[in-house]
Amino acid sequence: MLNRRNFLKVAGSATAATALGVKTHALKVLPLNPAAPIAANDHIQLALIGAGIQGQGDTKTAVQVPGVKLVAVADCYNGRLEHSKELWGNDIFTTRDYKEILARKDVDAAIIGTPDHWHKQIAVDAMKAGKDVYCEKPMIHAHSEGPEMIETAKSTNRILQIGSQRVSSIVYAKAKELLASGAIGQLNMVSAHWDRNSSMGAWNYTVPLDASPETCDWDRFLGTAPRVPFNSEHFFQWRKWKAYGTGVAGDLFVHLFSGTHFITGSNGPTRAMATGGLRFWKDGRDANDVLMGLFDYPQGFNLSLRVNFVDGGEESEGLVFTGSEGTMEIGYNFVSVSRTPREKEPGLMIGTYTEAMQKRIRDAYHERYPASHPSGPPAVAVEKYAAPEGYRDSYDHFTNFFSAVRSRQPVVEDAVFGYRAAGAALLSNLSIDHGMVVKWDPETMKLV
Ligand SMILES: NC(=O)c1ccc[n+]([C@@H]2O[C@H](COP(=O)([O-])OP(=O)(O)OC[C@H]3O[C@@H](n4cnc5c(N)ncnc54)[C@H](O)[C@@H]3O)[C@@H](O)[C@H]2O)c1
Repeated sequence: MLNRRNFLKVAGSATAATALGVKTHALKVLPLNPAAPIAANDHIQLALIGAGIQGQGDTKTAVQVPGVKLVAVADCYNGRLEHSKELWGNDIFTTRDYKEILARKDVDAAIIGTPDHWHKQIAVDAMKAGKDVYCEKPMIHAHSEGPEMIETAKSTNRILQIGSQRVSSIVYAKAKELLASGAIGQLNMVSAHWDRNSSMGAWNYTVPLDASPETCDWDRFLGTAPRVPFNSEHFFQWRKWKAYGTGVAGDLFVHLFSGTHFITGSNGPTRAMATGGLRFWKDGRDANDVLMGLFDYPQGFNLSLRVNFVDGGEESEGLVFTGSEGTMEIGYNFVSVSRTPREKEPGLMIGTYTEAMQKRIRDAYHERYPASHPSGPPAVAVEKYAAPEGYRDSYDHFTNFFSAVRSRQPVVEDAVFGYRAAGAALLSNLSIDHGMVVKWDPETMKLV
């Protein structure tokens, strides 16, 4: 993350500016509780399909939204079904087979927290079974899956929210407002990074000691993935293999795309080129641990993304929007804008010319810019907008989803938005696999 000190160092080296200090504003959170209490028979009955790290986290958040009750859980590992009962009580229905959940009349909506290669099929099956769906990001495992999800949401008239929670964040809403108000002038460039420096950050999640073909439903986990013998690392650390995950692009780039698209209002890039490699975690995985991507946006700005799992220094994450009038930075639960007044005149660089030439240029300059007088470096004004301590955008994202389930109004991150973010992210994998610049039509959502 670019902290203020770093940021001013960077800004300072580029513009020789001096800081005026930071003015901090507190962002307001929407009220947590609806005006009227929700009757017990008016609860949205929720199921969780894929009760792993994120599925359990999502559900803990979802049931905090008033009027939401968990009734069923499906997962392929017995230990997670058992832990679901420890968390939410023995009354919940548990099964290895998600279709048993979709057949239940007492389920209104489902969270899908499975690995990426299952998202499309379970979402489509759930919507066809009449359930509203909160599907974790990335929406898809391959581009071919996007249109079917969009079409099914439309034809079944189901609510489908994709789980890049940042688009519901009050920080991102503020950033969108700031950009639209011209706070940084014309947007020219967005750069984002996500640097990790830990084994967990590199997806080496702990495998439980009882992992076996008896406790894990291996065939169901594999689904349409290539048949290989039971492998507990594939099961619990699936992100490391392309057969189940989407690499750094689908895991992390997609968040940066969702955020960029939400803030700029853009539908996505037209051209992508990426490079990367497996640099450090040579533990049998086939997904890269370093990825860099460059993207052209038709709105006239470029996006550069960088993720690495081998950072020898501080773990950090951040987005920087560079405009003609300033810079907007988004970090953990804050957005800040740094502005230096734009010069009104070009300035002079004349010391290498003869004394006579310097005098002639100076005289001409003063004639052209009569008000000009030597001044120090321009001052940088920094305005920071911070969410309150402990603010969680995932709660707001679920509130948005459940409100839509009740009102049948659109969600903030529907299938089209989700496909535009995941589709853009996965261009990076195509670019690397084919060693070429990849073209994409963000309006029709088709590879060119
Ligand atoms: N929004 C976010 O910030 C965020 C953060 C982390 C993960 N995620 C997403 O959440 C998803 C899950 O990630 P995770 O880290 O929780 O993985 P995980 O491995 O911890 O959990 C996945 C669970 O799905 C189960 N599963 C696999 N196939 C299944 C099937 N056919 N039916 C039912 N259950 C099945 C597995 O048994 C496992 O328990 C991923 O798509 C990931 O990208 C999102």
